[in-house]
Amino acid sequence: MAGNSIGNEFVVTSFGESHGKCVGVVIDGCPAGLPLSEKDIQAELDRRIPAQPKIVSGRIEKDKVEILSGVFNGFTTGAPIAMMVANKEADSSDYEAIKDLPRPGHADYPARVRYGGFNDYRGGGRFSGRLTVALIMAGAVAKKLLSTLNVDVLAYTTAIGKVKMDNSLSPEEIRERRYKTAVRCPDSTCAEAMEEAIVEARKEGDSLGGIIECIALNVPVGVGEPLFDALDADIAKILLAVPAVKGVEFGLGFAAAELKGSENNDQYQMHHGKVMTLTNNAGGILGGLSSGMPIIVRVAVKPTPSIAKEQRTVNLSRMEDAKITVKGRHDPCVVPKAVPVVEAAVATVLADHMIRAGLIPKVLKEKK
Ligand SMILES: Cc1cc2nc3c(=O)[nH]c(=O)nc-3n(C[C@H](O)[C@H](O)[C@H](O)COP(=O)(O)O)c2cc1C
Repeated sequence: MAGNSIGNEFVVTSFGESHGKCVGVVIDGCPAGLPLSEKDIQAELDRRIPAQPKIVSGRIEKDKVEILSGVFNGFTTGAPIAMMVANKEADSSDYEAIKDLPRPGHADYPARVRYGGFNDYRGGGRFSGRLTVALIMAGAVAKKLLSTLNVDVLAYTTAIGKVKMDNSLSPEEIRERRYKTAVRCPDSTCAEAMEEAIVEARKEGDSLGGIIECIALNVPVGVGEPLFDALDADIAKILLAVPAVKGVEFGLGFAAAELKGSENNDQYQMHHGKVMTLTNNAGGILGGLSSGMPIIVRVAVKPTPSIAKEQRTVNLSRMEDAKITVKGRHDPCVVPKAVPVVEAAVATVLADHMIRAGLIPKVLKEKK
């Protein structure tokens, strides 16, 4: 099962399974001299689970990070940073009964065929949303690296099911308000309607999806490596590796297809001696390079596949039709939990590309 690493200079390798001993990450290539502690990582992990139990599953693990290597005297050393979180709350009892019944919307069936039945199927194993803990840990380090250049990455919910946020808020408002609501939407009125929609779906034994927007501020011009390592291509790749993400768009995205060039082009102007564009339909990336405008990317998250409603499936040992009711603890909507994951994913790619572009040195100057 290869393909568990991403990045060129800031190389992130994820390991672990949903119901195994732990979920972990190794970061190879993190510059030396970055102040880093378990507290920094823990703060990001704590943001994963919304505090409001109405809209989250029973698997509310207090994930506790352990840094195993690569940090000495409070600073990164330049050696691989290994981090892990133990799986304490895993309850595998519900999975034995459905071992031969692939859950619709999950990777159970293709994974069983691909790995000849040897894969750890408990809780989705390697394909579980739980694995996003590794991404959060990597992202926490990436965000600290980016902060040395004042680059800020902010993700937030803009839609849950059919409830959409159409207010445009300033980055300061988004930064300050997004984690104040259970759904991680910075517009509190809209957030209430989103919460109600989730509660309603849960009552029906069903689930909802949504949209997460992520903005990256202060990214210098020219970050990216055309052609196949284009900045947008690499961001899209990591985001599509987040479970349940089914679509990615930058700037106007699919809506640009309906416009004329004169409407879509971002025209230039001088602003306090700086080159800016009048609009940002491109979402801050042109030709695979950052344009200096905020990077704006959105992901579409599908409704949680595990639902309480009875569904059709097949029994793979008997090769006959069957029915399945997925038990266990599942979120009726994974969008709120995915918000810090999207932020971590975008930060991870930006850190990698900024090291590649020579903007982040291999040894950081120690702040006195
Ligand atoms: C943070 C996070 C948590 C998730 N939790 C669950 C869950 O509790 N139940 C579930 O059915 N799916 C959950 N998912 C989604 C599934 O893992 C995912 O849909 C499934 O593995 C199939 O992958 P795909 O949707 O990318 O094709 C979660 C996803 C994320 C990002």
